[in-house]
Amino acid sequence: MASATILKSSFLPKRSEWAATSRSPTSRQPAAVCFTVRAGSYADELVKTAKTVASPGRGILAMDESNATCGKRLASIGLENTEANRQAYRTLLVSAPGLGQYISGAILFEETLYQSTTDGKKIIDVLVSQNIVPGIKVDKGLVPLAGSNDESWCQGLDGLASRCAAYYQQGARFAKWRTVVSIPNGPSALAVKEAAWGLARYAAIAQDNGLVPIVEPEILLDGEHSIDKTFEVALKVWAEVFFYLAENNVLFEGILLKPSMVTPGAESKEKATAEQVADYTLKLLHRRIPPAVPGIMFLSGGQSEVEATQNLNAMNQRKNPWHVSFSYARALQNTCLKTWAGRPENVKAAQDTLLIRAQANSLAQLGKYTGEDESAESKKGMYVKNYSY
Ligand code: 13P
Repeated sequence: MASATILKSSFLPKRSEWAATSRSPTSRQPAAVCFTVRAGSYADELVKTAKTVASPGRGILAMDESNATCGKRLASIGLENTEANRQAYRTLLVSAPGLGQYISGAILFEETLYQSTTDGKKIIDVLVSQNIVPGIKVDKGLVPLAGSNDESWCQGLDGLASRCAAYYQQGARFAKWRTVVSIPNGPSALAVKEAAWGLARYAAIAQDNGLVPIVEPEILLDGEHSIDKTFEVALKVWAEVFFYLAENNVLFEGILLKPSMVTPGAESKEKATAEQVADYTLKLLHRRIPPAVPGIMFLSGGQSEVEATQNLNAMNQRKNPWHVSFSYARALQNTCLKTWAGRPENVKAAQDTLLIRAQANSLAQLGKYTGEDESAESKKGMYVKNYSY
């Protein structure tokens, strides 16, 4: 509970509404427009948390692999999927010295929120002592979407309010909900609407319970389509997401987004440079994302570590109205995991590689990454067809 106390804002507002009334300056009548944005009793704290996570030169370490996905990672280095091995790996990540210089938030899987390090400290306390805000994955994964062509929808709204309240008590201050949209399978209007509505309901519930929602409609890399097709689908998806966020009275200043970058499909013959990815992705953001949103924290989606860093750097060559940053899992952890290989004597070297990636992305957030001295491992792509999280 100590962590919750450290993070809890001492000046939480008690009012339950933010209201704004608009009057036309020239009219003698009260203006017809009167609008209210409901943000719950946590409004000020949500804005503060979102700003802290979206702070200059920092981004998010996504380490919220479900136990099943963590098992796949551990298997890739010949380890069994036991609680002890997951704990050893997560201890290595959160205790990398000085991580908080580059990392502002860490997304955890539920097990980790309640887990201790191998030397008995609460993982969330280690994060807070590193100046890293703990976050929590709250979606319950994807299942087939009945009535559509091989598409999925994301579960987890049942009981979400009480889970969010408990996670807040435990020290979490932001949440993540990942749903996916598949281009080769459509996307159908039904799948897009379902993804957008689920994200909006989740975001409203998370805000009501003090957690900043990360809104993540991942447009999967799978497919042979062109970058123009990805752009067209992303325009549709984000239009719908913001329509429903607004309908659910979500406070835009208290959310963070986790989009996919706009790239050609992973199996497309077309390849895009970092500058092209930046052009398309920023054009999408400018057309769809209000400047009230404090931070855009990209997922890496199977790009190589270096590619994800280069693309982010290219986006930060211009002045953007939002903090444009990272929330990578694979593109921060890949070389680190391989370097560790489950051996205690490799922990320091593995932490060093994590810090190298975190620092490179921190520089990319500031538009100052030069790409020197990158390892061959960090240039390997990590795309996996139908990747699940
Ligand atoms: P990747 O960066 O591996 O695509 O992970 C994305 C994600 O949603 C993790 O929270």
